[in-house]
Amino acid sequence: MGDAAARWTVGQAARGIPEEIRRAAPADPWVHDPADLAPPHEPADSPSHRAGRALAERAAARTCAGASVLDVGCGGGTAAFGVAGPDPSPVARVVGVDRQADMLASFTAGARARGIPHGTVHGSWPDAAPDAGRHDVVLCHHVLHNVVDLVPFLAALTGAVRSDGGGVVLEMSEEHPLTWLDPLWERFHGLRRRAGGTADDVVGVLREELGTEPEVQRWDRPSRLPHGPEWVTRRLCLPADRVPEVATALRDLPPRRPGLVTLAWAS
Ligand SMILES: C[S@@+](CC[C@H](N)C(=O)[O-])C[C@H]1O[C@@H](n2cnc3c(N)ncnc32)[C@H](O)[C@@H]1O
Repeated sequence: MGDAAARWTVGQAARGIPEEIRRAAPADPWVHDPADLAPPHEPADSPSHRAGRALAERAAARTCAGASVLDVGCGGGTAAFGVAGPDPSPVARVVGVDRQADMLASFTAGARARGIPHGTVHGSWPDAAPDAGRHDVVLCHHVLHNVVDLVPFLAALTGAVRSDGGGVVLEMSEEHPLTWLDPLWERFHGLRRRAGGTADDVVGVLREELGTEPEVQRWDRPSRLPHGPEWVTRRLCLPADRVPEVATALRDLPPRRPGLVTLAWAS
């Protein structure tokens, strides 16, 4: 394993929640609520959407049949629908992969509402890759910080691209998206958390392990998730009766950093 892959694995493994805290948690701290990840009606004009859209337009021009888009860790489909809209769309079909079935239901409802032909694969990437098929554009937004074993995950993204000119667009935060809560882990659990993997580690892994040099764009976006006291209390594995204490503690925290990174590469 190269330096970047080792840094990523050690950092990400250290972000795990100790078993005794997790066992005592009243709710699973890792499960996302589909309502929090609902796609916006109007796709945002972001570097990731522009990169995905450019790949889709090239594929549509090449095939005269519209592009096929795979969205890995799709949630409600913000990434896929961001590339598909607005009309005239170069996208002929979107396929969402997610390990949460309720996310796929939200993805399906979003595709129907937009009139986009669609499919879903319920499973965990990269194990689900054989069922997902190959596509012109492969998107993966805000999923990598759930991953410890990065090399097979990234290799399967590249492997899901059709060989004739398609590509991958990945979006992630510069650093682990929950780092801003680390002072609260120390305050409520006495736990000092290590930093997780970074976007620079991902660039290093792509270069060292997969021989891929991605295009890198850095940009800022305020967080979309609801970071109110109830949400944070659950993330901290605390019961609901601690919400008032968490609300007080949140007032002392500096705002989270908004830095995002778009990585794009051809197959
Ligand atoms: C933070 S959300 C991002 C959702 C969406 N991509 C977006 O940008 O709005 C992460 C999503 O990835 C899913 N997920 C996390 N790890 C996964 C994996 N290894 N395979 C498939 N889905 C995964 C989660 O269930 C969740 O829906």
